[in-house]
Amino acid sequence: MSDALIDFNESEAGLELRISDTTEPVTVSWRWLRDHGEDEASRDPETLQRRVDTFAIDSSASGQIERHDGNPGWFSIRWPDGAVTDHSHTLLADVISAYVATDWSRALPSDFAMPADAVLWGDPATAAPDEVKLDAFLGTDEVLTHGVDQLSRYGYLVLRANRHHPKLDRARAEAFAERLGYIRHTIFGGMWDLAPDLTEHADTAYSSVYLGPHTDATYSHDAPGLQYFLCVQPAESGGESLVVDGFAIADELARTEPEAAATLASVSVPGRYIEPGVHLQAERPVFRSDARGVLRQVSFNNYDRAPFLLPAEREQQFYSAYARFAELANDPSRRAAVSLQPGDVFVIDNWRAMHGRNAFSGYRHYIGAYLNHEDLESKRRVLTSA
Ligand SMILES: [Fe+2]
Repeated sequence: MSDALIDFNESEAGLELRISDTTEPVTVSWRWLRDHGEDEASRDPETLQRRVDTFAIDSSASGQIERHDGNPGWFSIRWPDGAVTDHSHTLLADVISAYVATDWSRALPSDFAMPADAVLWGDPATAAPDEVKLDAFLGTDEVLTHGVDQLSRYGYLVLRANRHHPKLDRARAEAFAERLGYIRHTIFGGMWDLAPDLTEHADTAYSSVYLGPHTDATYSHDAPGLQYFLCVQPAESGGESLVVDGFAIADELARTEPEAAATLASVSVPGRYIEPGVHLQAERPVFRSDARGVLRQVSFNNYDRAPFLLPAEREQQFYSAYARFAELANDPSRRAAVSLQPGDVFVIDNWRAMHGRNAFSGYRHYIGAYLNHEDLESKRRVLTSA
């Protein structure tokens, strides 16, 4: 249980807050507060996923506190642009309690090298994996080897179905998984149907709106390494799958904005997934490298980012670097848009590439599942040593 929030004062930098078991106040910046409103405009009340556009927040704007006499566990902040956000003592007490329990003098490593055989494609027009025929991938080891190699080097792969006899069922999707490893079971089950229906899972992925580039399962300590979709029915219009190379962004930042890259490699960002009976949470830096300093994973999901506090200067660096990353991730020139036809399969390396989706109209039905990263790596070793 959280400690109680017992005192707060406005200052130029933000709100000075104190919880019951600490004597020193902690300053929570105005920007952080704007980013963590608990009202409907700031946060989806069902999924608790972020709605506020983090990257459009004016970091110099300060707010005015409005106390709720009838509801003492809450207060509101009125902002210069007219918006009013709501805040609970409980959330603030929780993040302050985690903040004061952290030893900020212990730094994580902040530099990294790129994996030797990754083909970086900051511009998808100049480099893309070969498209592979799905029947051949399932039927011959030569095509399987080529597909696995392309997926490993580029971070995604498109497999095209036989146009005249596309197979659209779960057995086909399962056959694909078995060619690489086995389906990873998660909160979503093993294989799932992805279609606009918000009653099934409380997640923006199940609606029809634009879905910005992100990686899945920032709330899992071991996020699934691969995600794949078999297209059963494409949308009437729109709905293209989007993919962005997170490694190319990391490489570019490391070369041109090393301070931002170092921040993203050293600030551990929590992600969460909440629905009735479930509260998953995990954290890692946006750029995670292995013990040898080689970049192994990019994690980015602003929808699912959980509240956490940083020391003031570190927070400033984090927001700035995170916004820069988001800017690059949302740059249309970095994005490959893939139109899938019935029976096609689209695979994404969820440790490297971010995926998203254009808004669409009409009914769009995909079958999706996850696989483990180590199984792709295993398959590649086995095939190339054969
Ligand atoms: Fe996703």
